[in-house]
Amino acid sequence: MSAARFDPGGSLVGTVRPPPDKSISHRAALLAAMADGESQLTGYLDAADTRSTLDAVRALGADVGVDDGRAPGALAVRVRGIGLSGPGQRAGGGPTAIDVGNAGTLLRLLPGWLAGQGAGEWTLDGDDSIRRRPVDRVADPLRLMGARVACRDGRLPPLEVRGSALSGITYRLPVASAQVKSCVLLAGLLADGETEVVEPAPSRDHTERMLLAAGVDLRSETPGPGLAVGGKLPGRTITLRPPAGLAAADFEIPGDFSSAAFFIVAALLVPRSRVRIEGIGLNPTRVGLLGILNRMGAAIEVEEGLPVGGEPRGTVDVRSSPLRGTRVAVGETPLAIDELPLVALAGCFAEGETVVTGATELRLKESDRIATVVEAVRALGGEAEALDDGFTVRGIGGLRGGRVLSHGDHRLAMLGAVAGLASPEGVEVEGMEAAAVSYPAFERDLRGLLGSG
Ligand code: S3P
Repeated sequence: MSAARFDPGGSLVGTVRPPPDKSISHRAALLAAMADGESQLTGYLDAADTRSTLDAVRALGADVGVDDGRAPGALAVRVRGIGLSGPGQRAGGGPTAIDVGNAGTLLRLLPGWLAGQGAGEWTLDGDDSIRRRPVDRVADPLRLMGARVACRDGRLPPLEVRGSALSGITYRLPVASAQVKSCVLLAGLLADGETEVVEPAPSRDHTERMLLAAGVDLRSETPGPGLAVGGKLPGRTITLRPPAGLAAADFEIPGDFSSAAFFIVAALLVPRSRVRIEGIGLNPTRVGLLGILNRMGAAIEVEEGLPVGGEPRGTVDVRSSPLRGTRVAVGETPLAIDELPLVALAGCFAEGETVVTGATELRLKESDRIATVVEAVRALGGEAEALDDGFTVRGIGGLRGGRVLSHGDHRLAMLGAVAGLASPEGVEVEGMEAAAVSYPAFERDLRGLLGSG
């Protein structure tokens, strides 16, 4: 485990281009492998999680070529797909082992494709953190479709999948989860009849956008006027008809809003900062943090550019701002799920209380992010309480500094680094190497904005 120190070093000034989107990169590799023909993926995330997905599709028989991309942290990837039924046709000689590493998205999406194969057996497993992440959430709907899946203690990896015939179902997600929704939709591609997924609240919709781009007959409907009622957006129903095959499609991947979020919050908290973050995805189902920070009084300007590959993208300009506490509404949490730790950090610097509820899902991420965020805030001199489904943070005008444990969680490591630049005593992050899961060059990019007095 490696430790890194982050000390205040003046304001943050300049322009930064975060690495490509992790969620979209996983999906682009999977859909390219499922397609017939060759797809070029431009700006594929060069990080541990998304390398696991390239290895997984190679293990299934896809031909994958990787070159350096045009931007740092980005790869140019060429995938020759094996078609929707490819894994079953190539399987044989006992179960194929798939190592998902630390990638929860790969662990939850891939079984959807494998479950509907005519033949074959696969075992999905990963690191210690992945072994604590539940897979019953995908096993349950897959079984309803006719899949043969088994997991440890009925809910944990390793996850064994044996190919079988699937039937389309209507599945009401118990919680808004883009990973579960995507798994059921991928299984629906191989099922007999229509598959319908009903979300209690909208979650990120990259899979739907990419399936549409690949020519799939998919409809997504929001009941009612589509307006937020009491801070809660109405859920959506997504209906998909199985296609004969998927068309290969070239894809350009935007910068990751979730990585950009660390610079957004760093610029807000470090006095006299002004940071421009370019080339980031601005999909409305990902940018819930902007609405939350806006309520907190943040000075953030968003310039929307032209969408690429069906995904909105643009630039965000952030100036340091005094903040006030806020309450994050239940329906907002899926749209900011990976950024809620940063809401806690911002809350420490705000006036008044910041409360996040309806976010039990945080307990099931790379670490139990309710426990680890509260632990980190307290270790740095802040005041936070864990709730069953979120946390409260009392704004005390900042943090003293100290030592943060990443618990192997990339977002905790990066949060500690940001806190260090904004705390008088600085922060030592134990386990900083975890950042490589989504953003290997984070430390260099963050320090690159320092030093302007
Ligand atoms: C992801 C969805 C989110 C998010 C995760 C990536 C995805 O999880 O937390 O980091 O790529 O679909 P859920 O929406 O499943 O909770």
